[in-house]
Amino acid sequence: MISFCGIQLRHPIVNGSGTFDAIAARRAFGDALLRDFPFAAFVSKTVTLAPRQGNLPPRLWELAAGMINSIGLPNKGLDGYLAEDLPRLAELPVPLIVNVMGSTPEEVATLVAAFAGREEVAALELNVSCPNVKTGLLMGADPGETAALLDAVRPRTAKPLIVKLTPNCASPAAVAAAAEQHGADAVSLVNTLRGMAIDPRRPGQPWLGGGTGGVSGPAVRAIALAQVREVRERVRVPIVGMGGVQSGRHARDLLDAGADLVGVGTESFRDPRAGGRIAAELAEIDANSGIVAGPPKPARPRIAQSL
Ligand SMILES: Cc1cc2nc3c(=O)[nH]c(=O)nc-3n(C[C@H](O)[C@H](O)[C@H](O)COP(=O)(O)O)c2cc1C
Repeated sequence: MISFCGIQLRHPIVNGSGTFDAIAARRAFGDALLRDFPFAAFVSKTVTLAPRQGNLPPRLWELAAGMINSIGLPNKGLDGYLAEDLPRLAELPVPLIVNVMGSTPEEVATLVAAFAGREEVAALELNVSCPNVKTGLLMGADPGETAALLDAVRPRTAKPLIVKLTPNCASPAAVAAAAEQHGADAVSLVNTLRGMAIDPRRPGQPWLGGGTGGVSGPAVRAIALAQVREVRERVRVPIVGMGGVQSGRHARDLLDAGADLVGVGTESFRDPRAGGRIAAELAEIDANSGIVAGPPKPARPRIAQSL
């Protein structure tokens, strides 16, 4: 067992928000999913206050090493989530982390307050890749905006707050430091990197209905590694590292760069059991590494050393 913000987890592999639909997976795989759940905790897709339709299609573009999505966070809104999704997600055999997003700090605070008293919810993740409609600045792209967000949100819950950093800014590490100083219990990174694809039949026109989208998968792994390392150098709070993880080796690299947990996102689209496979591969790597945690053993028995 490992401890993350006081939550006990069986292993360090969780899902990336929005990349594993546990309710659809339960429908497809039945109770077998509960017996063999691929992740140590489940992070739900982003919930907003009002329902959202999401972006116009097309919503996906495949890359040589990943994809660009412009899903646009469709969801039932807070009331729909509380009535329909939360009871089902509470049946999962692992702790539940609810990911929320709002367009002002007050809106995020309202969302957080709605989950504060819910026993089913172990922690909250704040998706800060959203412009503050009042200032026009991306809440997670500017340390001052992030500090103001935390100041509004922190008093509304005693549950662990994880700030999901965006890589689309000058310094994710500076944003992480502001989040930590203003009461975040953990940070997660990377969210998707802004990218675009051109429609092959309409020169110069974007393929994705949303114009641009978020790049994920193996293409972003090296960036995630560098950003996790940079954030680790600035903060002491736990880090959930993610971005292009496809194997236990990739997870181990992120842990070695400073992450405490590892998120698996795009890989679950290729293989819904990827989380469990990656956790098993990681355990095997660790068991065979020859690296022993704790102080090094004395080279010889003490009695021999004292002779
Ligand atoms: C199709 C898709 C939907 C996503 N939806 C969300 C979301 O609702 N909220 C969020 O915070 N991140 C969302 N993400 C970002 C992922 O959680 C993750 O941070 C990112 O994809 C990097 O990890 P990966 O390369 O393993 O996919 C989404 C990513 C993808 C590919």
